[in-house]
Amino acid sequence: MKPLRVALLGCGTVGSEVVRLLHEQAADLTARIGAPLELAGVAVRRLDRTREHVAPELLTTDAMGLVTREDVDIVVEVIGGIEPARSLLLAAMKSGKSVVTANKALLAEDGETIFGAAREYGADLYYEAAVAGAIPLLRPLRESLVGDHVKRVIGIVNGTTNYILDRMDSCGASFSDALEEAQELGYAEADPTADVEGFDAAAKAAILAQLAFHTPVSAADVHREGITEVSAADVAGAKAMDSVVKLLAICERVPDPEGRNNGGRGVSVRVYPAMIPRSHPLASVREAYNAVFVEAESAGSLMFYGAGAGGAPTASAVLGDLVAVARNRVGGTRGPVEVTYAELPVLPMGET
Ligand code: NDP
Ligand code: HSE
Repeated sequence: MKPLRVALLGCGTVGSEVVRLLHEQAADLTARIGAPLELAGVAVRRLDRTREHVAPELLTTDAMGLVTREDVDIVVEVIGGIEPARSLLLAAMKSGKSVVTANKALLAEDGETIFGAAREYGADLYYEAAVAGAIPLLRPLRESLVGDHVKRVIGIVNGTTNYILDRMDSCGASFSDALEEAQELGYAEADPTADVEGFDAAAKAAILAQLAFHTPVSAADVHREGITEVSAADVAGAKAMDSVVKLLAICERVPDPEGRNNGGRGVSVRVYPAMIPRSHPLASVREAYNAVFVEAESAGSLMFYGAGAGGAPTASAVLGDLVAVARNRVGGTRGPVEVTYAELPVLPMGET
């Protein structure tokens, strides 16, 4: 069978692990897909670095040239940020490529454009790695639970802040030392302000709310507080009360007593640090792990737990998407198309 040619955009913490898995699992992946995956090129900023398992001639700084090449079937974007990632993904979809991305910042800031392009060009667009690292969470919301009525999604969706708060609680580490460790372990965003100020969790909350409630939600709709104001004294105070501080993301329908809007007055999406009793299941989420509860009308309560950040766990989610889009190409089909029907206003914090 003809190989499926993959353009990889970015070869940092996540991208380098994607390359490793493509290399180490090549035979299994071929068997699972029914065609081999072949790296067509790898776009990076700097060409002067050795990249394991990447032949030097595959490296390029011309990401746009790579994305639009005729011999490329699938584009995997793990650069991050808004531009050039947005232009690259739009060009990829316009030129008939299938797309996999881990870029929650882009999907939350301008999902309308990205999802709109996927619909317009009939492109396959998968983004499981964008929320909660290795945890299969978006596909259950997008597919398994799409026939149910999801009422609430609540949990810990940022590994870096959970790592910092856990280290402050468990061994009295300082905020800055714990952040440095999280950066060294590959959990933090390129600019860790996104983590500690809650922007990353807010982006993920927007994506979760949009999928759960089928209504457009962007990062700007999310009430956001980060953990930079959480002091050692706050963590110690919580400990004295047998509690812990966690950065929570909460997405919920706000009931309407008059039954408007399919039973909801709107949706509320918020991210803030909260003190929770040590007996609560979320209190036992350590290091950079994530945990998310989904409450749905018929399914009841579901819990998703696992590694929320880091190169290998995130690459696992990227590979899952890569296999999915590759199988779709082999089968001449495509995955689920994002549909929002805009019936629920996103309510500001004070109105919930
Ligand atoms: P890194 O900063 O480690 O890697 C970014 C890569 O993109 C680098 O290889 C860099 O090149 C390359 N790059 C940056 N700008 C350009 C450009 N203009 N053109 C071509 N290449 C470029 O990021 P991560 O791997 O940590 O994250 C990548 C994405 O995955 C982000 O969207 C992030 O939010 C998401 N993600 C990350 C997780 C994690 O735990 N790290 C978990 C889940 C999602 P060079 O190597 O030359 O600098
Ligand atoms: N910086 C993110 C985090 C990476 O710490 O959760 C995973 O999305």
